Amino acid sequence: LLSYLTSISSKQIDDILVYTVATSETDGFKRYLESAAEYNIQPTVLGWGQEWKGGEDIRHRAGGGWKVNLLKEALQPYKDDKDRLVLFTDGYDVMFLSNLRTITDEFKKTEARVLFGAESACWPDETLTSLYPVPKQGKRFLNSGLYIGYIPEILELLNRKPLVDTDDDQLFFTQAYLDEKMRSQLKFKLDHTSQIFQNLNGAINEVELFTENEKENPELHLQNAVTHTRPLIVHGNGPSKLKLNALGNYLARAWMPNQGCRHCKRGHIDLQKKTASEMPLVYLALFIEQASPFLEEQLQKVYDLEYPKKRIHLFIHNGVKYHTPHVADFVEKYGKAYLSLKQITAEDGISEWSARDLSLDQCLLKECELYFSVDSVSHLDNPHTLRLLAEQNRTVVAPLLVRPGKAWSNFWGALTTDGFYARSHDYMDIVHSDKRGLWNVPFLSNCYLINATLLRQYDRAKLNHVRGNLDADMAFCANLRDLDVFLFVSNRVDFGHLVNPESYDITRSTPDMYQIFDNERDWEERYIHSDYPENFNPDKKPLQPCPDVYWSPIVTKRFCKDLIQMMENFGKWSDGKNQDDRLTGGYEAVPTRDIHMNQVGWEPHWLLFLQRYVRPIQEHIFTGYFHDPPRSLMNFVVRYKPGEQPSLRPHHDSSTYTINIALNEVGQDYEGGGCRFIRYNCSVTDTKEGWMLMHPGRLTHYHEGLLVTKGVRYIMIAFVDP
Ligand code: UGA
Repeated sequence: LLSYLTSISSKQIDDILVYTVATSETDGFKRYLESAAEYNIQPTVLGWGQEWKGGEDIRHRAGGGWKVNLLKEALQPYKDDKDRLVLFTDGYDVMFLSNLRTITDEFKKTEARVLFGAESACWPDETLTSLYPVPKQGKRFLNSGLYIGYIPEILELLNRKPLVDTDDDQLFFTQAYLDEKMRSQLKFKLDHTSQIFQNLNGAINEVELFTENEKENPELHLQNAVTHTRPLIVHGNGPSKLKLNALGNYLARAWMPNQGCRHCKRGHIDLQKKTASEMPLVYLALFIEQASPFLEEQLQKVYDLEYPKKRIHLFIHNGVKYHTPHVADFVEKYGKAYLSLKQITAEDGISEWSARDLSLDQCLLKECELYFSVDSVSHLDNPHTLRLLAEQNRTVVAPLLVRPGKAWSNFWGALTTDGFYARSHDYMDIVHSDKRGLWNVPFLSNCYLINATLLRQYDRAKLNHVRGNLDADMAFCANLRDLDVFLFVSNRVDFGHLVNPESYDITRSTPDMYQIFDNERDWEERYIHSDYPENFNPDKKPLQPCPDVYWSPIVTKRFCKDLIQMMENFGKWSDGKNQDDRLTGGYEAVPTRDIHMNQVGWEPHWLLFLQRYVRPIQEHIFTGYFHDPPRSLMNFVVRYKPGEQPSLRPHHDSSTYTINIALNEVGQDYEGGGCRFIRYNCSVTDTKEGWMLMHPGRLTHYHEGLLVTKGVRYIMIAFVDP
């Protein structure tokens, strides 16, 4: 940016000088320059690198007179230039939407010599309202953020009376405008209907994005739906800055329907060719603030991020005792790989707010260049996420993370007036990645990367996670918004997803097993056998160890381990007698030592598993039989054990088909066992953990459970479609 500023000097296009004021390189100012560059406009920047002298908190209080004084001085060399125009705009909240030729032509049509933008509020002195002429149409009051005029008239206006830097510029120009003599002498007009200048405050519902569909390469324009004009410069004055941020995602060709995200490429850096030691130093802060399903996988994905570990300081705040062993495992396995590790445990009893603030301080202590915050619900499936975000090179940027199949994500597209969630026109397009790009949004959470320069710029009093009773993330974003920091969310590529912790019940012994409904994708990844899809490979013949007994990989060893744990933890194995209160008839002809799924609250989950994973195999093998959803009243885990019940006498099942999943390993966990199909004199004894036997229940498949001679054998049984 600095090199740009020094190279432009006062090089201007033809007959118009363009000025702005900017004391530092804010996100808004970068956007201003990008829009200027898009239309070949080269503004002269006044006040650059200086302390702001225009008064404190000008957003809420009067001020800005310094802007007037800076311009006055800058125009001195041109004071005799009668035909030259000058265009002044604010710098932090303005975008050009057109080139200077069009702006000049439009200005000339107004026949004014001085033209200011208009707005709906009489600010900063409301008592002046009645002195304002009433326009036929449009906004009545002057705004000082955008104006254009001939140099002599503008200078006359600026020299009208002396002004202290901290005086209010808008009041200064307002008084001039309300002076009838001056108004007519200078041909001083307001752009009431936004032919050129669109001030957004008080007009945010009057503007919309508009494309010319018939054009080959359409761009999005701003249209004022009330005045039917297409403004050429837009100003997010006062509190309308978030509206400008939303519009700015598209305007000035930032995003185009045929070209996608163009502003994504600006400022982009390439880290791929860097050596490990040249990579930016990252402070990676992990937050476990709520019990989170599939945390082990989440942590593994953090470790799997392809970024040199020796350039990462790791910070972990675990606020949930339940997760202590998970974190301990992770730390033991990987802790040493990182440049440093700081842990705050659940026992330390530190609040989320303090932990988050502390991590920012630690980042600075470690002289970090990037701060990467990752919550336990954020699954970074794309191992390049950290590098890609770093390359995006924004003050704050988050990867888009969405709960699979849901509209819940880690950003908000808009805010209500009291700062809560509101849906934006493009929210669903972004969430579904129908539109890909880099989106300036008012709120993000769960995972984001911050350029540590920002952290150095403000003390913790301004940049922290505390604000009234707000959640830490809401407070942090509100504080960032107050500093006019842009919050970007990127869906340029897929980065990962969010897990849904809402139904995660850690009073269960294996709570993740219960997550098949709410975290389907993660459940499948953890619990469904990696060879499951092979069951449907048309080039493979299904394994058939005995006639019409099929054998398929279906669940992982982890599933088997967790299911056994679920049962053993419950512990109320049946007594193996014929009398069985759990059954409607109260009688079981061929009893086993077992626990029914409904005894552990897992029946709905099991039935979904049957429908989703077992039924397709059945349909594939026993073609022509469709029963969706499968019905199954008897779903249970059986324990065979010498000294308890080591075998089961020959019997039929009351099922159309039976499934029998081996939950542990013969030769390792037990000896003997297996299933013998008497009619075929055929036994399956080398059962494999996580593999399922499927066979018809009646008539042909009279079978028995073979004797377990040592150890314990567990199987999962269901009688499908009895
Ligand atoms: C609004 C109006 O749009 C301004 O024309 C007017 O000067 C101001 O109110 C006022 O009457 O005091 P607003 O949008 O609320 O301005 O404030 P900012 O955009 O934050 O500040 C105005 C401009 O001053 C910035 O766009 C930027 O050009 C300059 N500025 C402000 C700096 O260069 N550095 C600063 O630290 C602050």
